[in-house]
Amino acid sequence: MAVLNVTLYPDEPLLAVAEPIHSITPKIVKLASDMFDTMIEYEGVGLAGPQVGVAKRIFVLCEPEQARQMCLINPVIVESEGRETGEEGCLSLPGIYADVPRATQLRVQALNEKGEAMDFWAEGLLARIIQHELDHLNGVIFLDRVDLLTRQDKLLEWDANRDRYVQTVKEQ
Ligand code: NI
Repeated sequence: MAVLNVTLYPDEPLLAVAEPIHSITPKIVKLASDMFDTMIEYEGVGLAGPQVGVAKRIFVLCEPEQARQMCLINPVIVESEGRETGEEGCLSLPGIYADVPRATQLRVQALNEKGEAMDFWAEGLLARIIQHELDHLNGVIFLDRVDLLTRQDKLLEWDANRDRYVQTVKEQ
């Protein structure tokens, strides 16, 4: 078990576009395993590569309602439907929450950590988590999806609180 350091906004590579993964090497399998450990340790429902300092197109998630854990590599949303606003938070901006509009149903294609192709429809919370994490692979955070005044307000709140979390991380 290895718990990785979580990158706090706006540290690199959170704002970068992550690179595709060309082959599922033992290093990638270990990364996926460590990302699951880290997500569970921090009680998150999703964690993307850039959030642990790795600018690669990979994320893990835990859909709490069905206790389903998944690793998605090179994920693509090929179809989406509906629109719904719901509250989101992020392990890279702990303590900050905002209502974010997202599609309600998605068709997703990706590889899992065994290199198997997945093609499935997601809805509800699972669809929301996938959109939030996929944004991380494109250097986008959830506050980029809210109106400008709310974004500004939440970023000021984060600026005022960030040092506290940097300190907390160092003490662990
Ligand atoms: Ni996040």
